[in-house]
Amino acid sequence: MKRSVVFAWAAASAFLAGLFVWLAFFWEPDPAGYAGGARQETAASRPNYLAGGDFTLDGPDGKLSLHDYRGQAVLIYFGYTFCPDVCPTALAVIAEALRALPPEEAARARGIFISVDPERDTPDVLKAYAPFFHPGIVGATGTPEQVAEVARRYGVLYMKQKPIDGRPYTVDHSSMTYLVAPDGALAAVLPHGASATEIVAALRKTLAAPPAN
Ligand code: NI
Repeated sequence: MKRSVVFAWAAASAFLAGLFVWLAFFWEPDPAGYAGGARQETAASRPNYLAGGDFTLDGPDGKLSLHDYRGQAVLIYFGYTFCPDVCPTALAVIAEALRALPPEEAARARGIFISVDPERDTPDVLKAYAPFFHPGIVGATGTPEQVAEVARRYGVLYMKQKPIDGRPYTVDHSSMTYLVAPDGALAAVLPHGASATEIVAALRKTLAAPPAN
């Protein structure tokens, strides 16, 4: 086989293997668990690979912790700035949702873009990238170990790919949007392709809910 064919075959195999792993983790055939495209999470229904929870990473102005956002609804997305289309699309939809909120709710909603590519996405790179979509979205990252730990708790899968033909490497990654309630608990996991309208509905529901404690 030609080298390029071997490459394509290996890439396809790797993708399929990743897909199976992803399906094994995420595919749940129970439609009752889904509401308006978003799976509403509760302590009782949440599988342990979706523990969520607090984290501290490097933000645009030093350390950034999820608990800094207590009292606000936070949309978290994991990706990387070199991503050719998936991340920009998802962030654009998140930005559209934030813009669509009424002012008093918009004041209580934020976005955090967590880079799974800290090698290239320094806090300064992220500081220039994330607010481009919406001023309420900040970028954060950390050491590879820190990022891996947060990703594990949110059920995020990602894998750096070998560069092909001298082009910059890509990072395959799952593409969910995580909604964290004002009390810091993971409230919903929105699939890639969720519309701004669906995200707005999930945000408003979370902001309207009384504190869980
Ligand atoms: Ni991406």
